[in-house]
Amino acid sequence: MSTPFDAFGYARARPGEIAWLSQNTNHLVPPEVVRGALEEAVRARRYEGYPVAAGDPELLDLVTADFGLSGARTYLTGGGTEALYMTARALLGAGDEVIASDPSYLIIHRFVELSGARTKNLDIYAPPCRLTAERISEAIGPRTRMILLIDPLNPLGSGYARDEVRAIAEVAHDRHLFLLNDVTYRDFSDGHALAAEFAPEETVTVWSLSKNCGLAGLRVGGYLASPELGAKIARFNTNDLGINVLAQAAGRAALATKPRWIGNVVRQTRANGARVREVVGGVEGTHLLVYPSRANMMAIDIAATGLSPEVVQEDLLRRHGVFLRAGNYLSPTHGGRFIRISFSNPPADLERFAAAFPETIERLRADRPAARAA
Ligand SMILES: Cc1ncc(COP(=O)(O)O)c(C=O)c1O
Repeated sequence: MSTPFDAFGYARARPGEIAWLSQNTNHLVPPEVVRGALEEAVRARRYEGYPVAAGDPELLDLVTADFGLSGARTYLTGGGTEALYMTARALLGAGDEVIASDPSYLIIHRFVELSGARTKNLDIYAPPCRLTAERISEAIGPRTRMILLIDPLNPLGSGYARDEVRAIAEVAHDRHLFLLNDVTYRDFSDGHALAAEFAPEETVTVWSLSKNCGLAGLRVGGYLASPELGAKIARFNTNDLGINVLAQAAGRAALATKPRWIGNVVRQTRANGARVREVVGGVEGTHLLVYPSRANMMAIDIAATGLSPEVVQEDLLRRHGVFLRAGNYLSPTHGGRFIRISFSNPPADLERFAAAFPETIERLRADRPAARAA
């Protein structure tokens, strides 16, 4: 049996050669924003001492101000991922159920399962490609403990209007359920609403600096919650001595300057999204599930080409150095239908996609045994 292609190993072995359109990372934040802060922290040898365990107070203040949620406390974790893990461990137990979606960011579902709970995945691979308060209400059963609301949603790029968030938050409140509101991509979305505004006691808001601030490698994120709920979750914090001091310095610099540059990041991201639409529109058998994206990624459905997303991923990467991500890690049911592209990248990366995608699909389609036989 041949070993499966290691896309990440292949891509990482070629630094600087790959158009990295695979992880919703952000390559548009001006680098000088964090460079100075990191250099200064290194010069001062800040890494020799422990951080303030709860987090740099100025960083916490910046996050709190960024969200503007009165009554919520801000907690810092090693990326949003750690906050998601802690929340699942703290609030769920054996036999509990979480209303979630498919597709989804399935790493959260895994954390739910580690707690002995399970997700009930509502299929959203059809318009409107997001949950509704009605469907959630119908799905609630005696074991339901939590609703998972990822807004905007990785991988589809769909998002929720304010009244939709309010309606879902009201369901959580009325049915006494926790509401896990993952808002990792909220800075890309116009008019984004926080569920905590409507259900402050029930909601855990998970935030991240990975995507909006382009700091994925530094691992800064956290959660906001009422002090009672926040403390319950904080018991599961394994980073008891605090998170990386250099990452906190960079996070501080990025958040303090975000109002100056985020507009340009979002504008370029949207222009890139429009370019993706143009390219996909010209390739028979492929279409975007959601457009425009409220985040910095979209799912390209390729089912009608008869090609597997893994084969397309490998071909794009090996032949063109263009790294998109096959959908299988994002959907148990529909992962074989789509490939995801993220696009907070310099336009040159999108032009590489524009050249590669039609060529790859056309060639692979022509090579298929069925196509040859026909
Ligand atoms: C919806 C969602 N939540 C959380 C994360 C993880 O964020 P972090 O890098 O802050 O751990 C991701 C990463 O892709 C994501 O898509």
